[in-house]
Amino acid sequence: MGHFNILVLLLVCSIITLNQLGQCRQSDDDHYVYKHHNNLELNVLLQKINTKCPSISRLYQLTERSVNGWPLTVIELSTNPGQHQLLVPEVKIVANMHGNEVLGREMLLRLADYICTEYLNNNKDIVQLLNRTRIHIMPSMNPDGWDIAANNYRSSDWLLGRANLNGVDLNRDFPDLDVVEFRKGNKEDFVSSLVNHQMQPETRAIVQWILTNPFVLSANLHGGALVANYPYDETPDGSTNTYTPSPDDQTFKHLARTYASNHKTMAKQSSRCDNDEDFTKQGGITNGAAWYSVAGGMQDFNYLASNCFEITLELGCQKFPPIEKLPVEWENNREALISFIKQAHIGIKGLVRDSNGYSIDGAIIRVQNITNGENRVINHDLTTTSDGEYWRLLTPGVYEVMATKQNYIPEIKTVVIKPKSSEQNEHAEIVNFNLKKFYY
Ligand SMILES: *[C@@H]1O[C@H](CO)[C@@H](O)[C@H](O)[C@H]1NC(C)=O
Ligand SMILES: *[C@@H]1O[C@H](CO)[C@@H](O)[C@H](O)[C@H]1NC(C)=O
Ligand SMILES: [Zn+2]
Repeated sequence: MGHFNILVLLLVCSIITLNQLGQCRQSDDDHYVYKHHNNLELNVLLQKINTKCPSISRLYQLTERSVNGWPLTVIELSTNPGQHQLLVPEVKIVANMHGNEVLGREMLLRLADYICTEYLNNNKDIVQLLNRTRIHIMPSMNPDGWDIAANNYRSSDWLLGRANLNGVDLNRDFPDLDVVEFRKGNKEDFVSSLVNHQMQPETRAIVQWILTNPFVLSANLHGGALVANYPYDETPDGSTNTYTPSPDDQTFKHLARTYASNHKTMAKQSSRCDNDEDFTKQGGITNGAAWYSVAGGMQDFNYLASNCFEITLELGCQKFPPIEKLPVEWENNREALISFIKQAHIGIKGLVRDSNGYSIDGAIIRVQNITNGENRVINHDLTTTSDGEYWRLLTPGVYEVMATKQNYIPEIKTVVIKPKSSEQNEHAEIVNFNLKKFYY
């Protein structure tokens, strides 16, 4: 199917549903039904979830479509759909970037339906989660690849449908900011690596999405292995597998562990995939570059181009599991997904304002780890949003946090982040700054 008007098809589908005929029949029920939803069904289902939960959801499409014309649809779940709220962190989850890795796609459709339904059921945990988090779910980043994979379901080709319709692996298609970072490059390098890079429409759409939203936390769902993978994904010297920590290694390990340990099997010895190393010795997590180096991946791009921390989740050994496996896979991933989203609330957050109370856009937040007499700058500054907000994910410890901006006197605060007990929900401590102007 080429370019089409999704609205017309949605309309056709709902008429068929009314008559209780044919393919759209499953949608009599406005719940998720376990199956491999094709690209039309995916959009119909998201529409149904939106109709079921209009007060807490919104559908939107990224600025570009797939090569074949499918929209890259996102369902946003929040108590104020369409609006960023001051200091409410934004989380995104993307699946099916490799078109033949389809489990994440179904898990995200199921997740969107679950959050909507449980919110309506007054599930306290979900109501509270939505009350303080804005969640963006994109079940498929590569709908064209999915079509190829689904049409060749019985093929033994492990890679069919992985790339987009132009044959490009989207997880190698992002601007390679690691190279700039490792060479301690300057801002010009950074900008030119963005400009000079010819991207696929799917990649371009995601880059635009990342650069125009204040995302704090993200996951990228894949398949073919069972492990939670964290930055960096690329080695500095081109070697194929060398542990390459980012400045936020401790925080990323915590994020990956949160997923792996809340997943029913990821951290368990019995569940390792045949061809992989035994990640369960590391609790079901791995540094990306220690596993195998990837240049131009989405995970490192998020970290190096924005304030967003992304990890990559390999959800299972089978890339295209049979439908019968989907219910148990949902049980395997449900708690892991919810717990992961809650991690948008670890560390600290706050506002940077001037002495008149106006928010300061583009102020720098720098953190130094002073836990137990340590004295280590975490060499990854964040930048405040246009409303002067920041969210700094951190693990428990003692930190010196500095807010600074040109022509202002930097302000430094000492912050103690205490470990949470397991019953407590994560809650970012609010640490605000008021910067005074320099007078010469
Ligand atoms: C969360 O709930 C409180 C209390 O009902 C409300 O005042 C606040 O606006 C809600 N926040 C969001 C983001 O929905
Ligand atoms: C800061 O240092 C402490 C002690 O070494 C460690 O436990 C913690 O994870 C560090 N925090 C970060 C964000 O690296
Ligand atoms: Zn993949």
